[in-house]
Formats: sequence, C-alpha cells, structure tokens
Amino acid sequence: MQEVQLHRGLRDVYLDKTEASFIDGQEGKLLYRGYNIHDLAQKSTAEETMYLLLYGKLPVRNELDEFTAQLKNARNIPDGIIQIIHMVKGAHPMDVLRTAVSGLSAFDPETEDNSLEATLRKGIRLCAQVPTVVAAIGRIRDGKEPVAPNPGLNHAANFLYMLFGEEPDADETRLMDIDAIVHAEHGSNASSFAARVAAGTLADLHCAVVAGISTLKGPLHGGAAEKVMDMAQAIGTPDRAEEYVRNVLDRGGKIMGFGHAVYRALDPRSVHMRKGCQALSEKIGQPQWFQILSKVEDAMIPYREKGIYPNVDFWSGATYHLMKIPEDLFIPIFAMSRIAGWTLQVLEQLADNRLIRPLLLYEGPMDVAYVPIEQR
Ligand SMILES: CC(C)(COP(=O)(O)OP(=O)(O)OC[C@H]1O[C@@H](n2cnc3c(N)ncnc32)[C@H](O)[C@@H]1OP(=O)(O)O)[C@@H](O)C(=O)NCCC(=O)NCCS
Repeated sequence: MQEVQLHRGLRDVYLDKTEASFIDGQEGKLLYRGYNIHDLAQKSTAEETMYLLLYGKLPVRNELDEFTAQLKNARNIPDGIIQIIHMVKGAHPMDVLRTAVSGLSAFDPETEDNSLEATLRKGIRLCAQVPTVVAAIGRIRDGKEPVAPNPGLNHAANFLYMLFGEEPDADETRLMDIDAIVHAEHGSNASSFAARVAAGTLADLHCAVVAGISTLKGPLHGGAAEKVMDMAQAIGTPDRAEEYVRNVLDRGGKIMGFGHAVYRALDPRSVHMRKGCQALSEKIGQPQWFQILSKVEDAMIPYREKGIYPNVDFWSGATYHLMKIPEDLFIPIFAMSRIAGWTLQVLEQLADNRLIRPLLLYEGPMDVAYVPIEQR
C-alpha cells in the first residue's frame, strides 16, 4: 500500500488563504482583519465588528449608521418561523435554531442567489434575524409570547430586551456586546470549516449556516460553555473545586472550558469574559460562580506546561448564568454571534471556490467476492 501521511483532525493543514482572522496559538494572539481582539473587545461594538468582518475595514460614521439601520430593518422574523419554533420547541434550543434558520431560507428573497453581493446581503439579514429567533426560542418554550425587536436599542441590548421583555441595564448590555465581539470569528474552527465545506459545493449561505450551527452544537466546540456551568453547579462551593478537578483528571476526563485546538497559551478572548464575569458577579452580589471557576483555574495551573489554558467558553457560561440566561441558550447565543464569521468564510470560499474534498486512507478488505443472500 502506498505511503501516505495522515493529518488526523486536519491539524496543521492549511486549507486555503484568508483575510478574516489571524491566530497565533503559541502567543495567544487573535486579530480580526488585522485588528487586535483586545482593542475590539475594549473599544468596538458588535455592530462595528460585524461591519469590520463583512467589509474588511472599520466603518466611518455614516457607513456605521447605514449598516446599523440595515440590521435594525432586518430584525423581524416571519410568522412562519414562529410557527416552526412552536412545533419543535421541545427539542434542545440549538436544534430548534438549526430548524428555524433552515426555515428562514424559505422566506428569504435571495436564498438561491449565490453572488457575493446577495450572499453579503443574506449574511447581514441573518446577523439581524438570528438573535430574534434565539430570543423567541427562549420565550416560546417557557410558554411566553415572543417580544418584537425594539428599534431604539442596539444589537446587544435588543437581544436581551427580546429575551427578557424589559430593557437591560448598561453593564449587561456592554457585556453582551463584548461577548458578541469575541465570538464573531475564529479562523477554520470546526463550524466555520463545515460552513466552508457546504459553500464549496456551491450550496447557498443558509445551507452553510445550518451546517455551521449543526457543528457548533458539540461539547468539544460551542457546547463547552453549557458544560462549564454544569461543572460549576456540580462543584457547588469553591473549596470543592480542587478535588473535583483532580477526580476528573484522574479518571482521564477533561475539564470543560480548558484546552484549545489552536491555542497553547491563554485564549485572548477569555480575558474579557473573565473580567466581565467578575465585575457582574460582584455587582449583583453573587460571587460564588466566579469564585468556583477561579479555583478550577488555580487547580489547572500545572497543566499550563502542556499548553492547556482556559478558553473563551470557560467564562462565558458563568457570565450568561449571572445574566439569568438559561443554560441551554448558551450555544445559540454563541451561534448568533458567529453568523458574521460564517458569512465571511462563505464569502471567501465563494470568491475563489474550490470544492473541498480530502481523502480517507482505506483500511478494509479488498476485492471480496460477492455472495448472494441465500448462500451467506
Ligand atoms: C478543545 C479540545 C477539543 C482541543 O483538543 P485537541 O487540540 O485535540 O487536544 P487533545 O484533546 O488532543 O489534548 C491534548 C492533551 O491535552 C489534554 N487536554 C486537552 N484539553 C483538556 C482539558 N480540557 N482538560 C484536561 N486535559 C485536557 C488531553 O487529554 C491530551 O492529553 P494527552 O496528551 O496526555 O493525551 C480539548 O482541549 C477539549 O476537549 N477541551 C474541553 C472542551 C472545550 O472547552 N471546548 C471548547 C473549545 S473553544
């Protein structure tokens, strides 16, 4: 048999070129379109970062105003989507989201148009619609009426408003804004790769986003934030964190929210979620989740030698919990922030498309004689 080099998990394989984001996993550095994630998390907004990703430059004032108006105009979702959510509301919200976004393709005027211009317009619509879908999922499965978008509120505040039915305070809005910024784009992660594979067949943007949502659901990707909160609840009090970590690791298990396929240093996104989580926990007088997770962080210090540090999901789960967001909406919230990144990856794929078609090394038997069913 021929000698081939396997790249299991496609690690260290460059699939294509990108102008979307740069990651230095050794240094813990992340740039969107050349801009450092620390600057964006501290100084930018969800709307501006979406614009940066989709258009490749920071907007000037009137460009940002126009883009923000475009997003606001696209926030409403058709009644048919509300009906779909009602029909499947018993499933995990991530499955409901996947189904609803698939449903949105039936209502979009440009679903079948794969031109770059139409794909960008569809991407902007999805950036605006998906938060409305996620908020509606959260309310409908709790037996509540969905709340219509509020054009007086920015992207982050409007999402919290649609979810809770009341205007959020400025600190929680800013935290949701930062969350949207740091989750917006991350190179060839599993869900963006899935979106590119779909786009590579010239399937349309809705197909690619559904592929992305499906792939994000797993606990090794977007599902980690939900699992981190399960872990914090299982630990219960800060003094039990060290023993819990030891037990999991002794059994060969993994601590959720730690480790990363690319980073061998601190995930730069986690810095901002940690800061926000700490500030919010102090503000609302609920320090225990932050304390428990800090103890888990301490117990994991020896693993830094192996390049295992907290990732973005370690702190985002606790932050959402402090904002009273139900656990099973954590991944859908990640998904709504990643729409811009998926759209950008699809645009790049379509701009210079090559069908993505790797090989598998066959290891089964060869040339086996076919035996008719009566003689087996
Ligand atoms: C994200 C993840 C899948 C990346 O995995 P990867 O690059 O394939 O790394 P591996 O799973 O091969 O891990 C390499 C080593 O680090 C260990 N490791 C990785 N993540 C770990 C974690 N969270 N807790 C404990 N050990 C971990 C592995 O057990 C392995 O050890 P070994 O070499 O002794 O076998 C992995 O770190 C993980 O499962 N983390 C928990 C889930 C999570 O937080 N996902 C969100 C990512 S943003």
